[in-house]
Amino acid sequence: MTIDYLALGEVLDPDEYVICVYRVKSDLDIRTAGSRIAEEESTGTWTHPTTLSDDIFRRYGAKVVEADGDLVTIGYPLVDFSGDIGGIPQILSIVAGNLFGLSSLKGVRLEDISLPRDLVERYPGPRFGIQGLRDVLKRPEMPLVGTIVKPKIGLPPKEFAEYVYEAGSGGLTNSKDDETLVDQDFCPLEERVSRVSEVLDLLEEEEHLMIHAHNITTSAHEILEAADLALENGARQLMVDVLTVGFSGLQALAEDPSVDVPLHVHRAMHGALTRDPEHGISMPVIAVLSRMAGGDALHVGTYGAGKMHGENELLSRDKLVEDMHGLKPVMPVSSGGLHPGVVHQLMEKSGNDVQIQAGGGVAGHPDGIRAGARAMIQAVEAAYSGISAEEYAVDHLELRRALEMWM
Ligand code: 3PG
Repeated sequence: MTIDYLALGEVLDPDEYVICVYRVKSDLDIRTAGSRIAEEESTGTWTHPTTLSDDIFRRYGAKVVEADGDLVTIGYPLVDFSGDIGGIPQILSIVAGNLFGLSSLKGVRLEDISLPRDLVERYPGPRFGIQGLRDVLKRPEMPLVGTIVKPKIGLPPKEFAEYVYEAGSGGLTNSKDDETLVDQDFCPLEERVSRVSEVLDLLEEEEHLMIHAHNITTSAHEILEAADLALENGARQLMVDVLTVGFSGLQALAEDPSVDVPLHVHRAMHGALTRDPEHGISMPVIAVLSRMAGGDALHVGTYGAGKMHGENELLSRDKLVEDMHGLKPVMPVSSGGLHPGVVHQLMEKSGNDVQIQAGGGVAGHPDGIRAGARAMIQAVEAAYSGISAEEYAVDHLELRRALEMWM
């Protein structure tokens, strides 16, 4: 048998193969370039190993089934992912491993991934997801509306909690730590959680439900301990930066029975992977893996409305909500440079299943945090009711002031 990784036109059984689409830039023709990836990531190497039998190749070799333009589709046999240990790290070591460094390729980007049911079913996925978050907040239909406490770092716990109280009093359903705040000396996690929990309880007594995501981004060996500390102090939601912690850190939290609160997933650092159109890993792939790892809410971008470079927001959102072998849908989070003036534009694309967050767009309101929160809520109410922000602002002072400030 000739060892040949090209199997162009073969229709792969999606229950038997992990199927990946790569965008490839190379001086090689696209078929050869695809074969280089398939051999490197399955049974081959730069030369023919004398130990590679036909049988090993037939059972475990990857297949290039499409090679067109700059895209190749490669199927990896399910058996390559078998065994009791390995998990998402091993999946990534195969589908997103050495291939990125092959000198015969000038660029490779993992654009899409589909995983067989048998593989996905090893992951419980989100415990709460969209519906669970809506149930916790008793908000069945409208978008969740949140803030990120600003400045990113520097507020001591008391002032931090006062910010959250003001935001909740203005009507926000969610707030969160920023991605760079964890346990710094000026705002230690334990005291921050305890003070925020007190104000969330107070808000609840005042008949307003709100949750706050506490950032416990830390080393793998400490993450469950950090979660325990936060939960013992009343945390209603936890947060991690999934790319710096790693998917397996998120999964460790999601699958620990003691972690019985929703997990908010930030994607800080994703630009290093997603921003180059010719090299890296697309945001939709990160969305698939975050869902498998058990995130309940994931940042996917602002559909062109915010401050961050956008990439594939609609597709990323779809990966969070479409059928995925029984995993619950994940709440898409839009965050980064948002303010009341762009909410309408955002919601036209995002729909109602979204958590809209504004840090500067609340904290920068000229009349303070509570007014900033009200303005965001009013902007969402307007868009939800199909009324323009300008029209709604006529008899909603806080929204009017925000539009005067930012539009
Ligand atoms: C985030 O965590 O998404 C950012 O810190 C958003 O902050 P901003 O609303 O002030 O841009």
